[in-house]
Amino acid sequence: MIRAIVLAAGKGTRMKSARSKVLHEICGRPMLWYVVQALRDAGIGEIVVVINSELRDEIEGFAVESVVQEEQLGTGHAVGVALERLEPRSGRLVVVCGDMPLVTGELLAGMAGSLDGADGAASVMALVTVKMPLPSNFGRIVRNGGRVQRIVEVRDATPEQLAIDEMNAGIYAFDEAALRQAVTHLRTDNAQGEYYLTDLVESFVSAGKDVRPVLTTDHLTVLGINDRIELARARKEMNARLCAAHMRDGVTIVDPDTTYLEPELEIGEDTVIYPNTTIGRLSRTGRNCVVGPNSRLSNAQLGDRVTVRESVVSDTTAADDVWIGPFAHLRGETRLGDKTHVGNFVEIKKSSLARRVKVSHLSYLGDATIGEETNVGAGTITCNFDGERKHPTVVGRNVAIGSNTSLVAPVSLGDGAFTGAGSVVTKDVPSGERVAGNPARPLPKK
Ligand code: UD1
Ligand code: MG
Repeated sequence: MIRAIVLAAGKGTRMKSARSKVLHEICGRPMLWYVVQALRDAGIGEIVVVINSELRDEIEGFAVESVVQEEQLGTGHAVGVALERLEPRSGRLVVVCGDMPLVTGELLAGMAGSLDGADGAASVMALVTVKMPLPSNFGRIVRNGGRVQRIVEVRDATPEQLAIDEMNAGIYAFDEAALRQAVTHLRTDNAQGEYYLTDLVESFVSAGKDVRPVLTTDHLTVLGINDRIELARARKEMNARLCAAHMRDGVTIVDPDTTYLEPELEIGEDTVIYPNTTIGRLSRTGRNCVVGPNSRLSNAQLGDRVTVRESVVSDTTAADDVWIGPFAHLRGETRLGDKTHVGNFVEIKKSSLARRVKVSHLSYLGDATIGEETNVGAGTITCNFDGERKHPTVVGRNVAIGSNTSLVAPVSLGDGAFTGAGSVVTKDVPSGERVAGNPARPLPKK
């Protein structure tokens, strides 16, 4: 079993942030989440993350082992701290920086194997190198006669070394025993006064050991995020990847540049997403849905053939053939049955609408349960809050709620009830009864 160390304790000074760098998000997940995910995709399950003390509480959500590096004395020191935690084994270790969210499982999967040479000889270290447009803040790969000699950090580099366009990506594989031995000899005689993991290259090479480069051409995949400009670039790239994956699976995304997705979404075939739409937090849509333009889904669970136009839908479940919008706001565990229709300027919170309910214009429904085929007239409001507590409104089937009705909760309307326009309903209305007025009173029987 190959083990991995993720370096995530750095101060992230260049982010100018009170938050740890690796917790900054791209596409709805912290950077570190993507790195851990890529390691898992590569079949590496045993992961130790080196963190700083601020990350101590936050790391739990990642389901990995962690070790605190109390003082950030450099990447070499961080690896040393991880090695103290790991029980020594003979085998291979992958080391990856936690600030490279675009790294792929594919790239990491090949790393441990890259220590093996074609001639059967094994190297002690392999590292991913990448050709990159200059200028760049990455460490430079210094070669001699084609062989990797050392890595020079930008702050320690001469002008000639800065002209080198082959960089250290920050992904390594080591023979564990060799690593344990070499890490103890690192020194801090460099511009940053840190223990550089990258100095191991020179120390192995000068000891006559082989260090093997794994050249990649895709420099975006190994982009290390050090400031918010790189963070924005990484987000753009990740979003493009997420959109491409859904398009390959049969989703039409009219404009991927203005469609903002997260990982772990389910979007059904033949769904069309219009511009300026954000879909996040484990949302799911069935087939043939239409979402957008200008919409936001957050933990929305939509069935088939659901339309969401210019609306905000969070923590909401909608069955099949539901219409939402334009300009609706659904939230807080709302449930919409088949063929419900929620129209313009309607807000619904923590309510359940049975099939074929219509709330077409200008309403607020909160803590309400509405029975099948009921029509909620324009401007109907549930007065669910008495200043201290929220109260429920229960409406039966086939109820006709007149325009501008106020339902003063707690209150219920039985099946087939009717309220006249402008009614203020303060008392329960039995099935079949017709009420009107303020306060609403029964109308004479027809
Ligand atoms: C590092 C490499 C550089 C490479 C680049 C790729 C070193 C010395 N330099 O530079 O050659 O091109 O990554 O992105 O390794 N960290 C710790 N503890 C520390 C210091 C850092 O855990 O004491 C972690 C950081 O959280 C980060 C990673 O190590 O995830 C790399 O540190 P960072 O400061 O970003 O190094 P770079 O300057 O980017
Ligand atoms: Mg970095």
